[in-house]
Amino acid sequence: MEWIASAAFGLEGPVASELRALGLKDVRPQDTGGVRFSGTGADAFRADLWLRSADRVLLVAAEGEARSFEELFQLAGGFAWEKILPRDARFPVRAHCARSQLMSPSDCQAIVKKAVADRLSRAYRLKWLPEDGASFAIDVSIRRDRVLLCLDTSGDALNRRGYRTWNGEAPLRETLAAALVRMSPWRPGMAFWDPMCGTGSIALEAALMAADRAPGLVRPFDIERWPLLPAKESAHIRAEAEERFRQGMEREFLIGGSDIDPEPLELARRHAKQAGMESRVTLRQCDARDLVLPAERGVIVTNPPYGERLGDRKTAQDAAAALGALWRRNPGWTVCAISPESGFERAFGRRADRRRRLYNGRIECEYMTFLSQNQQKRDL
Ligand SMILES: C[S@@+](CC[C@H](N)C(=O)[O-])C[C@H]1O[C@@H](n2cnc3c(N)ncnc32)[C@H](O)[C@@H]1O
Repeated sequence: MEWIASAAFGLEGPVASELRALGLKDVRPQDTGGVRFSGTGADAFRADLWLRSADRVLLVAAEGEARSFEELFQLAGGFAWEKILPRDARFPVRAHCARSQLMSPSDCQAIVKKAVADRLSRAYRLKWLPEDGASFAIDVSIRRDRVLLCLDTSGDALNRRGYRTWNGEAPLRETLAAALVRMSPWRPGMAFWDPMCGTGSIALEAALMAADRAPGLVRPFDIERWPLLPAKESAHIRAEAEERFRQGMEREFLIGGSDIDPEPLELARRHAKQAGMESRVTLRQCDARDLVLPAERGVIVTNPPYGERLGDRKTAQDAAAALGALWRRNPGWTVCAISPESGFERAFGRRADRRRRLYNGRIECEYMTFLSQNQQKRDL
């Protein structure tokens, strides 16, 4: 079967590398967003459970062109939905349309709903479909008249790990936080710190990686109730993940974060507790200007304040300057920071060694890496 791990624009690379690390086959990043791969229902469930940077895992049902409602109806009705959806399946439909003849999501949803309902009614010889069983959400994406019909295996989006129930002012999505950590030079076993950690997303995602904890370990996925994934297989995959986490927690790791503001830090503590990591992630109140890092070498990944409003510009520049000073005081530490500020490097005090364009929601940002001074010397 053909699957798509959908992802925020710019995160296709990290998602593809995660899929390959899971041993999945035929991994292909798409120009139109997301990453395709081939595999069984068990492979898709493994992806749901383990992917840290993707938004959802979707099963590709049908693809084709449609410029009219009739063409869309024929395309949706041509797929054998009854092979996947049982007679009591609930099948909500959501549609997104862009640059196409068919531009009304609500009309497209209604057409696809009717086509699938007609097909299932005929297949199951039912006049009325109960729709009171497991959920098989249908995702309709129409881009430049090209239609992609998928079934959503995830249910809640994958950033919902189950540990964050309180949000601060500008929290980073868990999926982006995980991608930032993955794109940094940090690897489990190395020291890690976020000196402007807010509600703790980045440090917590690093801790989950260090502990080899599947991000979806404590939440359910819709695919777990689908007939194409035998219960025995899903139970086995979950048991394997539990065991990896048990072993992971036996490892030593040095991961933490600090923030000048006690309020988001309080949330960070609650999140760490909910993730079962409160004894493994150090969190403390501290101005980055006074911070003493806990090791000689390590990696900082951080999301400093942005100067979106006029009055915030100075705060953003001060934060960049504080990070630059922290980097200079700690020659063994690499600093990675995501920021939309054009003057970030000037305030930091040097040009980034690497940069990559990313989006934090709708905000276009640069993800900059300032390699440690020790590494710079080695490279000379
Ligand atoms: C964009 S928020 C970080 C959000 C965080 N990534 C999260 O997911 O919640 C920026 C954080 O930087 C903190 N901050 C700003 N200046 C600081 C400084 N000099 N030292 C430490 N923290 C600072 C703010 O209090 C704020 O929590």
